[in-house]
Amino acid sequence: MASERILLIVGGGIAAYKACELVRLIRGAGMSVRCVLTEGAAHFVTPMTFAALSEQPVHTSLWDLKDEAEMGHIQLSRQADLVVVCPGTADLIARMANGHADDLATTLLLATDKPVLVAPAMNVRMWTHPATTRNVAQLRADGVAVLEPNEGPMACGEYGPGRLPGPPAILAAIREKLGANISTPFVSSEVETPALSVSTSLDTNGGEKPRLAGRHILVTAGPTHEPIDPVRYIANRSSGKQGYAIAAALAALGARVTLVSGPVELTTPPGVDRIDVETAREMAAAVDAALPADAAVMVAAVADWRVEGVDQKIKKGAGGPPALALVENPDILASLAARTDRPGLVIGFAAETERVIDHAIAKRARKGADWILANDVSGDVMGGDGNHVHIVTRDGVESWDQLPKAEVARRLADRIADELARPH
Ligand code: CTP
Repeated sequence: MASERILLIVGGGIAAYKACELVRLIRGAGMSVRCVLTEGAAHFVTPMTFAALSEQPVHTSLWDLKDEAEMGHIQLSRQADLVVVCPGTADLIARMANGHADDLATTLLLATDKPVLVAPAMNVRMWTHPATTRNVAQLRADGVAVLEPNEGPMACGEYGPGRLPGPPAILAAIREKLGANISTPFVSSEVETPALSVSTSLDTNGGEKPRLAGRHILVTAGPTHEPIDPVRYIANRSSGKQGYAIAAALAALGARVTLVSGPVELTTPPGVDRIDVETAREMAAAVDAALPADAAVMVAAVADWRVEGVDQKIKKGAGGPPALALVENPDILASLAARTDRPGLVIGFAAETERVIDHAIAKRARKGADWILANDVSGDVMGGDGNHVHIVTRDGVESWDQLPKAEVARRLADRIADELARPH
């Protein structure tokens, strides 16, 4: 599924905070999301939260001249592949059912030519009120997919149907609506599956467990920082984005993922156990401690050298600039691949700036990896959102197109699931 775009309309109810988690899940699944908050929603959660999580502008007003000049509201409503209303409050559902267009959210909902999915959340009496029943029936008759709310204790102290379906279940419904033909992540035994009004099933995985359920996969990501003295360090340009996307994609297929991460500015993907480290030696120790694993994906840009220990801050002196004595760091990938209890599938990355494939083939042999994903890092790959990789295996080299990092991650996760499912 090539990065689908979701327009998320957040209604004004206490469940609005769960829409934050939904944004994280949508992004973790490799889709982009633009958020619109109703005036009520902005009383519960801030536009800043959604801007940070979605990394996109957030829209709140029909009358914002700047927004309107940059992207008119009609265009905003059409640019998405799916419009999701979460939480769908009683009032927002009523206004949708009656075709109101008196704020940005309802105007977009009336103007859109894309499918609409509503995840309702409200007090039990409001949900069972004949007016809401009528409004929901009207929306369904209009072709809007309205999820059934969950039943349980509510923020208001009452009990019954009206709770927002869990964000993983909403994500599953999103994928169902988008017609994803890949296994549905996040649908695990603990995830409720709300009924869709226009579609019969959310189970796109033939009723089976997620493909990587029961597997433990180790991922390293980000740079390492190697201290020069107590205040300075050697670093590199790795952002960690590709490794984090891979961890997210593996977790989305049901794997237990341990992510050993160097210092990055990224949030932990849902369902991933993250261990933060700074130096290559700390990363090596964390990798050892995380074993055994069924597979390992070593995406980290590990510093090849560290500076021989300096305990005090190096002062400027008459002797001119200091000479730094470098010693080689452990090669985490090579050591892992050489272990007798190594993961069954060991995957490395090769960051190259020239003769990418030749170097990657040699690196695969030298490090004992099963697969190497090679990429040319001479452009803006490090820190950017796209990647052009070649996958080098014992069978040869396959080149993928330039893809968003999330899509590279999803393809790789699928390949890993295929490989682990093969009889050995
Ligand atoms: N790697 C590692 N430990 C190191 C260095 C690299 O585990 N000390 C892993 C990386 O995570 C990556 C692979 O080895 O999966 C290749 O990393 P790369 O930086 O491309 O290769 P180097 O071994 O550093 O070789 P060179 O710098 O000579 O290209």
